[in-house]
Amino acid sequence: MTKRQVLVAANWKMNGTLQTVRPLLKGIAAGCKEGIPAEVAICPPFIYLAETATLLSGSDISLGAQNVSEHASGAHTGEISAAMLKDLGCKYVIIGHSERRHIYGESDAAVARKFMRAVQTGLIPILCVGEELSDREAGQTEEVVARQLDAVIQAASIGSFSKAVIAYEPVWAIGTGRVATQDQAQEVHAFIRLRLARHDSGVADRMRILYGGSVKAANAGDLFSMADIDGGLIGGASLQAEEFIEICRAAE
Ligand code: PGA
Repeated sequence: MTKRQVLVAANWKMNGTLQTVRPLLKGIAAGCKEGIPAEVAICPPFIYLAETATLLSGSDISLGAQNVSEHASGAHTGEISAAMLKDLGCKYVIIGHSERRHIYGESDAAVARKFMRAVQTGLIPILCVGEELSDREAGQTEEVVARQLDAVIQAASIGSFSKAVIAYEPVWAIGTGRVATQDQAQEVHAFIRLRLARHDSGVADRMRILYGGSVKAANAGDLFSMADIDGGLIGGASLQAEEFIEICRAAE
């Protein structure tokens, strides 16, 4: 089995001001200096990407964005292109977060187009998939995750997944304090890897599959210890430097 480098990515969502972003970044950078057994990435709001890039320069922390336009450039008022993200030094971009899918109506097809745009531009997409509570209760978790995954595999080809990361984020666990148990998460992570392996076992083996949804320092170690959990996508807990650093340390 391939040894996969653990990735812990902060998804700040629509939080922060210059006044809070600066000390938060300094705190995270200082914590990371002491050595972290994982790759760490920060995905701030677009507007703070440049500031974040400046404050993180010289550190090993990677930069990511939370969304990207499916279009290359042109008449798309209010959108941000993949080339712009690349320009600012982004390595990652979160694609298809459940808040994008559910609040902003992003379809599986739109998510696939964004995924392709990111890969074409040399950004690493962090493709989010995950079921709602009603899906889980109806026993349809695997069906929903498979549909979300297959839409991208079909559109983008399995080869492009060699330059991607997947995040399993059960919608019922996001921002609710209700974390999936390590076994619940592991089960879906293993399912995702198997689904990829139907197309390419090498890609499946190397794929980093992150867990997201109410990860905290107190539960990160248990989650990260599972065979198919290769890190986390951290929302609320990434807004506090100490808590976030503790989560990163749990990658050991
Ligand atoms: P949470 O969010 O950690 O606040 O639950 C995770 C996410 O939405 O990526």
